[in-house]
Amino acid sequence: MMPNSVHGKSILLGISGSISSYKAVDLASKLVQHGADLDVIMTSSAAQFIAPLTFESIIHKPVIQDVFTSGSEEGIYHISATEQADLVVIAPATANMIAKIANGLCDDPISLAVLSSKAPVIVCPAMDGHMYQNPATQENIQKLTDRGIVLVGPTTGHLASGSIGQGRLVEPSDILGHIRLLLGQTGDLAGRKIVVSAGGTQEAIDPVRFLGNRSSGKMGYALAEAAIDRGANTVLIAAPNNLTNPIGAKILEVVTAKEMHRAILNEMEDCDILIMPAAVADWRPKETSKNKIKKNDLENWSITLHKNEDILRSIKEADLVKVGFAAETENTLSQARQKLNEKNLNLIVANNVTETDIGFGSENNEVILIDREGNINELGLLSKYEIGQHILNAVAPMLKPT
Ligand SMILES: Cc1cc2nc3c(=O)[nH]c(=O)nc-3n(C[C@H](O)[C@H](O)[C@H](O)COP(=O)(O)O)c2cc1C
Repeated sequence: MMPNSVHGKSILLGISGSISSYKAVDLASKLVQHGADLDVIMTSSAAQFIAPLTFESIIHKPVIQDVFTSGSEEGIYHISATEQADLVVIAPATANMIAKIANGLCDDPISLAVLSSKAPVIVCPAMDGHMYQNPATQENIQKLTDRGIVLVGPTTGHLASGSIGQGRLVEPSDILGHIRLLLGQTGDLAGRKIVVSAGGTQEAIDPVRFLGNRSSGKMGYALAEAAIDRGANTVLIAAPNNLTNPIGAKILEVVTAKEMHRAILNEMEDCDILIMPAAVADWRPKETSKNKIKKNDLENWSITLHKNEDILRSIKEADLVKVGFAAETENTLSQARQKLNEKNLNLIVANNVTETDIGFGSENNEVILIDREGNINELGLLSKYEIGQHILNAVAPMLKPT
């Protein structure tokens, strides 16, 4: 299975001296959990805020703290570590560190690593709002951007000074998202457009009630993450859900099946793959009441439903690879095959939703992939991200050569 874009990559994490330096612990931990080969470099100011030992406990090797330590058996650290690096990330980056990099200084181990590395660089500023707004900082940031360094943040919110302003370090989970996006850019789906639908649509009965379903959106979101990790230009058509949007996807929020249909049609230009794990309402109320329906007015109540158009069946773009999902409660395989044929799909992902510990809302699922040629791939119990990667593995060879 294709791993995430961070897996096996050599990443240098530089930490400069900010009140937010402690957040780099979370980032380091996340990078290691995603399989990165991580080296940590700290300035002496950063070591005032957080002990290097904390990072050493996560990466299981020494933290580089000094320009004058060799740090490696192969040679001087800033040559050996930076030569192998796939990416340099500075989080947090102080105003001082940004100024040094902008001006090519290299008298600390982070700015030295940036100057001596050929790897892409992500800089995540963190500082007081006034420091950030200062023209000197703004000019320095502009220099970094002009050189192709990727700036992530800062965001606006509560600052250590007690004020509210722009200067907060971007949350580690979002920094990780930006790292995945950048490292994924050379993936096998680079240059391909993938549209993924997610969540369960809602069909209004009145201003407070709707017909919905149990879809959490997790499968669609996991698929979008997998697509971003492989470099795809990813569009996520998101019906209501409680999930965090993946960094790098174009998000189009929709509520009803009709809105989802329209959003998908609008995105079909240049689209290579359409994958639809969303649970789209099959019917909608014939009428939606403008006012809340009062319970005292009705002892019994019937709602007439109208059928929604089947989105996948309606889309007939040439060369588009279409993937559908079949959530069934009985005869899973035969029902799935029927849908594959009726909707003219390239691949269908079938699962039995009567299993309560997998499927809707859970982190894992057990699905069967069936293609047009009749090939059946029964995946065991996997995370939804892993399933997403298997689906992309199956459809990648179906794409028309570019
Ligand atoms: C309590 C405290 C918090 C600080 N927080 C920040 C900060 O968030 N961002 C920043 O640019 N500087 C901050 N500074 C100032 C830097 O630590 C200082 O400029 C230092 O020289 C930066 O060194 P470095 O860039 O080598 O790590 C802070 C200083 C103190 C004492």
